Amino acid sequence: MVHSENIDADTIYETDALIAEDIDTYLEAHQHKTMLRFITCGSVDDGKSTLIGRLLYDSKMIFEDQLATLEADSKKVGTQGQEIDFALLVDGLAAEREQGITIDVAYRFFATEKRKFIVADTPGHEQYTRNMVTGASTADLAVILIDARQGILTQTRRHSYLAHLIGIKHLVVAVNKMDLVGYDQAVYDDIIADYTAFAKEIGIEAFTPMPISGLAGDNITSKSDNTPWYKGPALVEHLENVEVMVTANQARPLRMAVQWVNRPNLDFRGFSGQISGGTVKPGDPVRILPSGKTSTVKRIVTFDGDLDEAVAGQSVTLTLADEIDCSRGDVVAAVDAPPQVADQFETTIVWMDESELLPGRSYWMKIGTQFVSATVQPPKYQVNVNNMEQLAAKTLDLNGIGVAEIATDRPIIFEPYADNRDLGGFILIDKISNATVAAGMLHFCLRRSQNVHWQDVDIDRAAHALQKRQEPRVVWFTGLSGSGKSTIANMVEKRLYALGKHSFLLDGDNVRHGLNKDLGFTDVDRVENIRRIGEVAKLMADAGLIVLTAFISPFRAERQLVRSMLPNDEFIEIFVDTPLSVAEERDVKGLYKKARAGELKNFTGIDSDYEIPENAEMRIDTTKMSPEEAAEIIVDKIVGSWSYTI
Ligand code: ADX
Repeated sequence: MVHSENIDADTIYETDALIAEDIDTYLEAHQHKTMLRFITCGSVDDGKSTLIGRLLYDSKMIFEDQLATLEADSKKVGTQGQEIDFALLVDGLAAEREQGITIDVAYRFFATEKRKFIVADTPGHEQYTRNMVTGASTADLAVILIDARQGILTQTRRHSYLAHLIGIKHLVVAVNKMDLVGYDQAVYDDIIADYTAFAKEIGIEAFTPMPISGLAGDNITSKSDNTPWYKGPALVEHLENVEVMVTANQARPLRMAVQWVNRPNLDFRGFSGQISGGTVKPGDPVRILPSGKTSTVKRIVTFDGDLDEAVAGQSVTLTLADEIDCSRGDVVAAVDAPPQVADQFETTIVWMDESELLPGRSYWMKIGTQFVSATVQPPKYQVNVNNMEQLAAKTLDLNGIGVAEIATDRPIIFEPYADNRDLGGFILIDKISNATVAAGMLHFCLRRSQNVHWQDVDIDRAAHALQKRQEPRVVWFTGLSGSGKSTIANMVEKRLYALGKHSFLLDGDNVRHGLNKDLGFTDVDRVENIRRIGEVAKLMADAGLIVLTAFISPFRAERQLVRSMLPNDEFIEIFVDTPLSVAEERDVKGLYKKARAGELKNFTGIDSDYEIPENAEMRIDTTKMSPEEAAEIIVDKIVGSWSYTI
């Protein structure tokens, strides 16, 4: 590699400062350059913002109005003898400035003669794993900043681990503030030796070390005379020359996830999306997944006319020679090297929500353009990102990272994350709040997901129900402890029995002595409690029974899950509405008293939530109705909803 010691910064960088109106012209001038996406990570005082500010300033990519404010602000704040405080440029948000930390990911754009760059400035504060993962997910390279006076800190380890986990191929370990340690080679060598040992431990195979000073500008745009002992490239030179992901992806087999089917009229049907791997030409044979059907590419259509070839990174519309089924979420792939299709996986999950992961709960999973329901198993382990230790865990909290199995409700097209971030990276979304609660990476599919098939049975659920001369139902009682669920359910069952109906009552206290005796009353355990009961109730309904369940079942999501497992109309949700004060006063089992005395933790209504049903089929107000009256109208509802009379 040639070093750029003697090159004048102005010959490398654009000389014109930009104003906002110029940006389109400017972007156009740069459109044929490759784009490198990178992130900077470091602790609060490692000098990230100063480094980014320096890169932007030296490449003249600061808008003039921004520059004016910056100069004014720097005068206000005072800047250790420097004309401009580069950190102010990046720490743009007032709130951040007040807190002295960078909270959200800020993306900055700059360019040199060779390349364009987008840098995501990710926060150094411990709490913000989420932002780091967000900023890093599309990055080609990460600059890990280490303060030369401090050496490796916990955050250096954490960020390196995350960058490695996210699959960032190129790591630059920049020992910053070399000016403050007199450009001492021994200091630098010690830090790099420490880092090398650490990197090996966590499986980082290679990284590029360099001594820099963001503030003084050493080894940033050109090699510095202050570090004659350093033989590697200046930072910018390195950034200009590393291979970007898009280029590497072009060598891979063809992958294009269909974002939408473009059908303006009956004569044209094109499949639009971004090519995430490989190249494609008209005449190439392709395979559509998950159907596995094959065809040949007819045209590659773009805004600027048809192409003879398209490569990874480009967004195009493909038309095919045959009329085959292909819809949003499908993948167009190389005919002889298609991605896999499966519904159970081992994954690494980064939890990003204030409320913990609830294993067994059904979340939305977005993977590329595919959207499915998914449940997470209890984690195999959680990683302590400070020392990379693997810890036993039942769940994951905010910023928790763990390895867990995931099952999807239908097969999805995927590739291991290490091979393809688009088809291997996913997010989980809470179905009720719509918040993104996690990001994750698929590693491989579980063999069992391909070997366990549904068994077709000859005596099906309709046959079972017909023999009993009834329609299956799951009558789901929900309400506080002591609300009267069991009492009413019991009376309903007696009436059904008297009518000659076949039923079965699953009751909270009883099930918890057997099937679910391993479960307690944390949110995680309650979710699993209801999930199992839902599965059992479904099997019993398949056997043609009228199933009555009496569980607090405090969460909407799980009640909804059971509802979605059954055919329409088979699930009847009955909210036994008894005010907390009334249930507490009855206190049949003496549990409220204990809970109030602090002897019983996580008690529903006291220190654990009960989510009131929003779309229950019936609401029984026990302050206005006796259990007998309630039982009567419930039996009417059950039998009356049958589509045939007996
Ligand atoms: S659920 O929340 O998971 O649906 P479930 O209905 O199985 O609860 O069990 C509730 C019964 O367990 C209550 O009626 C009560 O008798 C008993 N119990 C013991 N501890 C608790 C607690 N912390 N919260 C609620 N119920 C409890």
